Amino acid sequence: MKMLVFLGPLSVTAFLLSWSLATSYNIVCYFSSWAIYRPSEGKFDVPNIDAHLCTHIIFAFIGSTDDGTLNILDPWESNDADEGGHYEGFRNLRKLKSENPNLKVLLSLGSWKEGSKNISIVAADPIKRKKLGWEALTLIEVYNFDGVDIFWEYANLENDTESEDKKNFVELLKDFKSMYQPRGLLVTAAVAGIIDKIELYNVKEVSENLDMMNVLSFDYHGAFDNFVGHVSPLHASSKDYDHGRNSTYTVATSIEYWLYKNADNKKINMGVVTYGRSFKLKDKSNTELYAPIIGAGSKGPYTEISGFLGYNEICSINSTYYWDDEQKVPHRVWGDQWVGFEDEDSLKLKVDFTVLWNLSGIMIWSLDTDDFLGNCGGGKYPLISTIKNRLKYHEDSLKGR
Ligand SMILES: *[C@@H]1O[C@H](CO)[C@@H](O)[C@H](O)[C@H]1NC(C)=O
Ligand SMILES: *[C@@H]1O[C@H](CO)[C@@H](O)[C@H](O)[C@H]1NC(C)=O
Ligand SMILES: *[C@@H]1O[C@H](CO)[C@@H](O)[C@H](O)[C@H]1NC(C)=O
Ligand SMILES: *[C@@H]1O[C@H](CO)[C@@H](O)[C@H](O)[C@H]1NC(C)=O
Ligand SMILES: *[C@@H]1O[C@H](CO)[C@@H](O)[C@H](O)[C@H]1NC(C)=O
Repeated sequence: MKMLVFLGPLSVTAFLLSWSLATSYNIVCYFSSWAIYRPSEGKFDVPNIDAHLCTHIIFAFIGSTDDGTLNILDPWESNDADEGGHYEGFRNLRKLKSENPNLKVLLSLGSWKEGSKNISIVAADPIKRKKLGWEALTLIEVYNFDGVDIFWEYANLENDTESEDKKNFVELLKDFKSMYQPRGLLVTAAVAGIIDKIELYNVKEVSENLDMMNVLSFDYHGAFDNFVGHVSPLHASSKDYDHGRNSTYTVATSIEYWLYKNADNKKINMGVVTYGRSFKLKDKSNTELYAPIIGAGSKGPYTEISGFLGYNEICSINSTYYWDDEQKVPHRVWGDQWVGFEDEDSLKLKVDFTVLWNLSGIMIWSLDTDDFLGNCGGGKYPLISTIKNRLKYHEDSLKGR
């Protein structure tokens, strides 16, 4: 009964009362729209989305020019056929909302290709900020979507020092909130996970001006390091200290640090991944954490990126499974390849942590690398379904008392 221990002085009755009034957990799922270009069974588009799996779907990404003009980055995917589009991504997302009227769909402003320097320029200028806010709002109202997500990865981080971005980010959020909130629309953002980067936010004001903060509590390790490490350890490893490494690179530290800085727990979604980060080992007999590597792991058949594999690729590789009971995460090894990833067991523990800290839910990056076709025998969307079922289990067991 972890919850009761955690509640401390609160009475059970008071807790149950507050619980019955609280809404259920968020399951916020990003769709990385470039997945439509993946080959064969890796190809993913809106019709692959189960309208009842997630509470929120966030389309990644729409862009902004440096003068605050909304920029549809991929009209072929997003736009309707009569506007020169082909996949009609936005129209198909609207259809999902008619299948599930409770589903919320948001558009994410950002870019993974060129960083976010345009947003930095726009956020610094009150006229450009409002222009971008209105242009996004117009598009959102055309499709009856539910809000905007700001994916500024990251504010202040061009050179990892505090900059004008810190206050401009809050100004941007305030402007957006003043336009969106009166219309019942959401403003959410993806925010950093690593604590040096959390320091570069004005946490209290960021929290006050957002409806949800999706913490990027992953990518702690990858081929950008020169050793083997896990993409999203829940807890530290005793080997961190042996290797003189910073053991704050964990999901638990990230979440606890946002809370410590007074972010509203009821606005925090813990970010988890349906992908793994892979390595090519220097010596295939040394598969330990911190083992030396030669570089990134081999490309997968669908995602085709060195050092990155979708769960839908990982689950079909003939490989040896290992569980790290300190970090509470699995990895797999085959030949000279090593991949750290999330599976059903590690995700259940992350959901338990989310419930323990009374967060608002889980954010998932992303829909399109779960085993969405069910090719590995665990049904369709085994990872996101595990998250959903585990959250429901907690909700039911709290109601049942
Ligand atoms: C959890 O959140 C609810 C709703 O905001 C609140 O009433 C309750 O006190 C919180 N419990 C804890 C342990 O933080
Ligand atoms: C950033 O702005 C430039 C200049 O306006 C534009 O060419 C580019 O496409 C923008 N980037 C994004 C991601 O929208
Ligand atoms: C980095 O920091 C310096 C000093 O604050 C600032 O002038 C510069 O614009 C920042 N960004 C880049 C990309 O150098
Ligand atoms: C780990 O990182 C945090 C945040 O930057 C820092 O405060 C701490 O001193 C670091 N610890 C070690 C052992 O490097
Ligand atoms: C998987 O690998 C094991 C050990 O190398 C081997 O015995 C087995 O036949 C392989 N299975 C498949 C389906 O390739």
